[in-house]
Amino acid sequence: MNIFQDWPEPIVPIPIIDIGRLCTDDITLQTKTLDQISKACREWGFFQVVNHGMSPQLMDQAKATWREFFHLPMELKNMHANSPKTYEGYGSRLGVEKGAILDWSDYYYLHYQPSSLKDYTKWPSLPLHCRDILEDYCKDMVKLCENLMKILSKNLGLQEDRLQNAFGGKEESGGCLRVNYYPKCPQPELTLGISPHSDPGGLTILLPDEQVAGLQVRGSDDSWIIVEPAPHALIVNIGDQIQMLSNSIYKSIEHRVIVNPAFERLSLAFFYNPKGNVPIEPLKELVTVDSPALYSSTTYDRYRQFIRTQGPRSKCHIDELKSPRS
Ligand code: OGA
Ligand code: NI
Repeated sequence: MNIFQDWPEPIVPIPIIDIGRLCTDDITLQTKTLDQISKACREWGFFQVVNHGMSPQLMDQAKATWREFFHLPMELKNMHANSPKTYEGYGSRLGVEKGAILDWSDYYYLHYQPSSLKDYTKWPSLPLHCRDILEDYCKDMVKLCENLMKILSKNLGLQEDRLQNAFGGKEESGGCLRVNYYPKCPQPELTLGISPHSDPGGLTILLPDEQVAGLQVRGSDDSWIIVEPAPHALIVNIGDQIQMLSNSIYKSIEHRVIVNPAFERLSLAFFYNPKGNVPIEPLKELVTVDSPALYSSTTYDRYRQFIRTQGPRSKCHIDELKSPRS
């Protein structure tokens, strides 16, 4: 099945970058790859990575176990239902005002790190090997995020640990997983799987559904560009916190998910975030007379609180933090 074949609009591929090339001895190839990543972060805020080091089997297993979870009877899924207070567990979108159009999706949200927030009892107890698979999956995700953070720092002309330190260090940075399940939708034109939003955190690594299209990224001309995933690729995107730290050199781009009348869809979004209480503001090395700080200081905890009570609303929150002079 190739549902992209009959897609009505032309598909502009977001960049696909072979990051395995960074591990070769060929300096020219390494430099070229770093440049590709730099351009993608500045112009797109989104790119796909291949040869990322994550095992294709583990990626497939992770999707299979979550598909099984979402197909469990409601009583079993509800054993892990999130309470309105905490976002962890199984549920649908919370925190939106009365009358809002709800997203056509279920999700499961869990914390992997810091260790103080990791609580296996809040991870699914079924399917049987789900927790083991998740542990392996999240461990590899953190490794990949830590590597990307170094690359992103270097590409900004900074020390390679600069962004990681701005996040509060490796041990304190947050890593959490949101698994999205989009059931078939009889009238897809009336709703969305996820409303337009930019990711509030630092960096997102998405394992998409390779069979079913759904993710759309806002293009520079305001159109919605459908993402066609390459085989066993991961989709990386810059979140609001890195947009602010980089003083908008890297872009956190708006995206949304459309639903499908014939197929369900599943995706795993791993979010890598700053420690909740460290100040987030444009890095001083990137602020000059010609490029003054574009954002006032905040913390991720404060930022997230706003998003959770308001629900995803395009990019209005990051815009609110724009310094008055900009
Ligand atoms: C998200 C998200 C995209 C997708 O979870 O923030 O944008 O394809 N998901 O499910
Ligand atoms: Ni998102």
